Amino acid sequence: MSTAEARTENKAEKVEYEGPAISFEEVSISFEGNEVLKNVSFAIEQGETRLLLGPAGGGKSVLMKLCDGLLRPDSGTIRVLGHEISGMKERDMFALRHRIGMVFQESALFDSMSVEDNVAYLLHEDKVPAEEAHKRVEEALRFVELEKAIDKFPAELSGGMRRRVSIARAIITEPDLILYDSPTGGLDPITSTTIMELVMKRRDVSHTTSLIIRIVCRTPSTWPRTITTRKRVARKRFLIMGSMSVRSSSC
Ligand SMILES: Nc1ncnc2c1ncn2[C@@H]1O[C@H](COP(=O)(O)OP(=O)(O)OP(=O)(O)O)[C@@H](O)[C@H]1O
Ligand SMILES: [Mg+2]
Repeated sequence: MSTAEARTENKAEKVEYEGPAISFEEVSISFEGNEVLKNVSFAIEQGETRLLLGPAGGGKSVLMKLCDGLLRPDSGTIRVLGHEISGMKERDMFALRHRIGMVFQESALFDSMSVEDNVAYLLHEDKVPAEEAHKRVEEALRFVELEKAIDKFPAELSGGMRRRVSIARAIITEPDLILYDSPTGGLDPITSTTIMELVMKRRDVSHTTSLIIRIVCRTPSTWPRTITTRKRVARKRFLIMGSMSVRSSSC
């Protein structure tokens, strides 16, 4: 059996659905009285790539975890890939997560596993045969230009390389949605550019709906001024987070 045939057998069919890839309606979440997101509403259409800009501690990672069902909102409605997930059972959420690629802040690789095992993690969970899993890992690592690092361990990699492995892990299942949490955080400008070029290459190759979260280094008191410029940036498909709301003129 060819790799392509084997892959078709092991990969879930592309699921068609109506409406946006992600939509938040009046979503709020607090932790012990700390109101992190309040009445947040936005939508990302299928095939779109959006950049979410927000201050440190503004709730960007919380928002990403809400998209993936790792956190549940206190109120409001979240739809992802055609499903209402706010009250979804964990078992159903588990299946949906296989259609979502996550690039976590700080990469979140397993230190005790090789690059190959890190990237193949979901394939192993899906019981994809070893030979096919290996070929797909090679392909994903080739995409991020790290095929030579396949036998290395995370501790042997630079921060930028770890981020690229994390991207390879996120794309290996050919997800319908990719969430990048601060993919360039903590990296030098040149490495950041390389990472963003990879993110854009992925967008251009697969047209996968993507949400890219990036920190904007401004204190909350300067946010109103930032938001007055949102007309200009919104054309470039930005979502701007400030004062516990997400704004975008095109949503
Ligand atoms: N599981 C949790 N339990 C309690 N508080 C939490 C939890 N997760 C996040 N918070 C709080 O929510 C707020 C927003 O956190 P979050 O990690 O989303 O910020 P962020 O915008 O991603 O910041 P950064 O740019 O530093 O990554 C913080 O005050 C944080 O302490
Ligand atoms: Mg964060």
